Amino acid sequence: MKGLVVCGGKGSRLRPLTYTGAKQLVPIANKPIVFYAIEQLVEAGIRDIAIIVSPETGDQVRRAAGDGSAFGARIDYIEQLKPGGIAQAVGMAREWMNGVPFVTFLGDNFLTHGIVPFVQTFDASDDDAAILLKHVSDATQFGVAQFEGERLVRVVEKPKEPPSDLAVIGIYLFTSRVFEAIDSIKPSARGELEITDTIQWLLDNGSKVRADVVDGEWIDTGKHDDLLAANRIVLEMLRDDRFGGTVDDASKLHGRVVLQPGCTIVNSVISGPVIIGERTRIENSYIGPFTSIDHDCEVVESEISGSMVLENTTIKHLGHRIEQSLIGRNVELAGDDRKPRGYQLVLGDFSRIRVP
Ligand code: DAU
Repeated sequence: MKGLVVCGGKGSRLRPLTYTGAKQLVPIANKPIVFYAIEQLVEAGIRDIAIIVSPETGDQVRRAAGDGSAFGARIDYIEQLKPGGIAQAVGMAREWMNGVPFVTFLGDNFLTHGIVPFVQTFDASDDDAAILLKHVSDATQFGVAQFEGERLVRVVEKPKEPPSDLAVIGIYLFTSRVFEAIDSIKPSARGELEITDTIQWLLDNGSKVRADVVDGEWIDTGKHDDLLAANRIVLEMLRDDRFGGTVDDASKLHGRVVLQPGCTIVNSVISGPVIIGERTRIENSYIGPFTSIDHDCEVVESEISGSMVLENTTIKHLGHRIEQSLIGRNVELAGDDRKPRGYQLVLGDFSRIRVP
């Protein structure tokens, strides 16, 4: 089988982070979200992978994932000029797939248990498509599956009144019959070729579509809170690894802590699960549980917990602890004792700040 990772789109729900970067490159535990998808494809034995990219963020994705050799795969890139829907994105890969069945993995979807059993089952079957499902508390945000008894009869995109609590995960297994479906469907009310309509077409036109409920956690990292949730899950799964960093005698490390190469911890307390990125310096600070600080950051005389800090950011002399926060790349955050006391801010559009 081949793999298709869908990494175009606008990423508007993750602004301001996505003003300067692809949403699929936002790191979870210091690793771009889309790398988890690529690794899980490779783990399932898929080494021929194409990535759908947009003209705006395509170069960043290309630079990050390269030719795939770092993953033990071969990666090609296909540009989708406008975000005309996930089904349109899949349709762009028709020639590249050349009749071979494939797994489509939305680049912002995160799954903890991988896809190995689903790929094996599909490979050994005569199914035309397979979808993966997960019970969720609010199905209105997703494609939703409806069954009659054991039989999947309908998939509907973001319904106001969901027919079940089974969300359709952004991982789909297809034979080339899917291209016939994509040719046959019409754009939805929001003007996109919907992947759910494609699956519905297959169901309505005599194709065999399998549906399985996944174990483990699934997160569609579309919103800020989802990113923090995915970050917590991955940090909990990391193995303790402190060999990459330098820790002075005055510092205390508790719980699971990953120190990436070249980081420095000085007179600080790190309470895991925590990951500290390459060349990052933590000084006279407290880094609390469920926090990732990415590479080339500097944290001085500050406290951070339950948060994600992206690359090249400096946080210094803060009077209050940062909690449950998502701080982007190249941010400068500094406390200041001078009078008059007031906030001095340069905030991008769509920033969200809550101060005590
Ligand atoms: O996450 C699962 C959900 O993904 C499914 O339950 C829905 O049925 C499915 O439509 C999709 O819904 P989203 O609203 O989450 O899709 P989103 O617009 O966020 O796009 C998902 C990924 O596909 C994202 O990485 C961007 C990329 N994309 C999206 C569009 C519309 C493209 O590459 N091209 C596109 O034209």
